[in-house]
Amino acid sequence: MADAGSGHYGASSQQHGYQQAPAQSATARHQQQQQQPAAAAATSTAAGYGHQTHASRQLARQPEPTPQVVLSPTPSHGSSASRKTSSRYSLTDFTFIRTLGTGSFGRVHLVRSQHNQRSYAIKVLSKERVVKMKQVEHTNSEREMLERVRHPFLVNLWGTFKDSKNLYMVMDFVAGGELFSLLRKSQRFPDPVAKFFAAEVALALDYLHSLEIIYRDLKPENILLGADGHVKITDFGFAKHVPDITWTLCGTPDYLAPEIVQSRGYNKSVDWYALGVLMFEMLAGYPPFFTEDSNPMRLYEKIIAGKIRYPAYFTPEAKDLLKSLLTNDITKRFGNLANGSRDIFGHVWFQEVDWERLYRKEIPAPYVPKVDGDWDASNFDAYPEVDLSEYGSTGPDPHGHLFPLF
Ligand SMILES: Nc1ncnc2c1ncn2[C@@H]1O[C@H](COP(=O)(O)OP(=O)(O)OP(=O)(O)O)[C@@H](O)[C@H]1O
Ligand SMILES: [Mg+2]
Repeated sequence: MADAGSGHYGASSQQHGYQQAPAQSATARHQQQQQQPAAAAATSTAAGYGHQTHASRQLARQPEPTPQVVLSPTPSHGSSASRKTSSRYSLTDFTFIRTLGTGSFGRVHLVRSQHNQRSYAIKVLSKERVVKMKQVEHTNSEREMLERVRHPFLVNLWGTFKDSKNLYMVMDFVAGGELFSLLRKSQRFPDPVAKFFAAEVALALDYLHSLEIIYRDLKPENILLGADGHVKITDFGFAKHVPDITWTLCGTPDYLAPEIVQSRGYNKSVDWYALGVLMFEMLAGYPPFFTEDSNPMRLYEKIIAGKIRYPAYFTPEAKDLLKSLLTNDITKRFGNLANGSRDIFGHVWFQEVDWERLYRKEIPAPYVPKVDGDWDASNFDAYPEVDLSEYGSTGPDPHGHLFPLF
């Protein structure tokens, strides 16, 4: 896997002692998480973090303050970004195969297209649930932002449709599973592996920011791996066009920047902070701040206090970048200074990264998932399947008018 071309970066996983995680069923993975705390949990700083699963990492969410979705004009820069997605699909175009993941609002299914027999992923959201949880604004924004973006490290939306009860988003099926699963199986990543994923994520975030979009939900659960091992970020549930400043408390507690927790106005600085949390979690196997009882108030106190213990095995370069990303002082935070993202891309930890080649996926991924054909979903957890008879409902639709973009 050595990348002979660059001479430095993308060095072989074996060289760095990185063992590919064994192929393992999703169920087995969860059992493993419950029975066998990650090695990191044995260290004093990580005590109590070994059992973190999806379920225990809930979202923090407030409704957006404005009552209706504002259709923002397409930014002039990043012109290749704007494209049309279709709203002309319907339920009968797809056969539902199995569940790939569940989130706070809905469920993502692996489906087969009746037209080309190909695999896709469909995210289904219940309108009633979205309304009850005051997420109408975020849901319309998710659809709008996904339509607007096109990038090698972001999931691709093909189109949407709705029935009287649900909203449906048709995406590419990203078969390699969540970075979350790979990280928990690996316990922690060697420095070059963490660097590869952090670098691809940084390119995607920088692209979003160039369109004045903040992502706001960076975490390993939302970072999928393609069959080629390259990153695909999914879940635009909190992504929003913010040309200036916003205040909404949303995201995942472990990844919240102090300015969000403190209800200070914020912008893209929060995504760069979250990149710091991700980098730390990949290198250590646990995030910089956590509480054993998942009590968000205690967690927020820790985030605001900002005292981080860096494991001795972090390289000085990684630690230096982390300090510049995880600083509470947004006038000192990398990504948020006069040089913008160049401070991050030019940091010594990323020294050997050839960013152009990385963007073109010419740097081989450190881990290539085992994917056996277009229909192999074994990199995803198994979920109890639900009754799908409500999909395609034609009854009364009291909330339909709230979702004009679907
Ligand atoms: N395009 C895709 N291909 C394969 N799996 C996907 C895809 N999109 C999402 N998933 C899976 O479904 C899960 C839930 O999707 P998503 O995060 O969008 O839902 P959500 O309800 O917004 O979740 P959250 O609780 O984070 O808000 C993901 O973590 C991932 O495992
Ligand atoms: Mg998610």
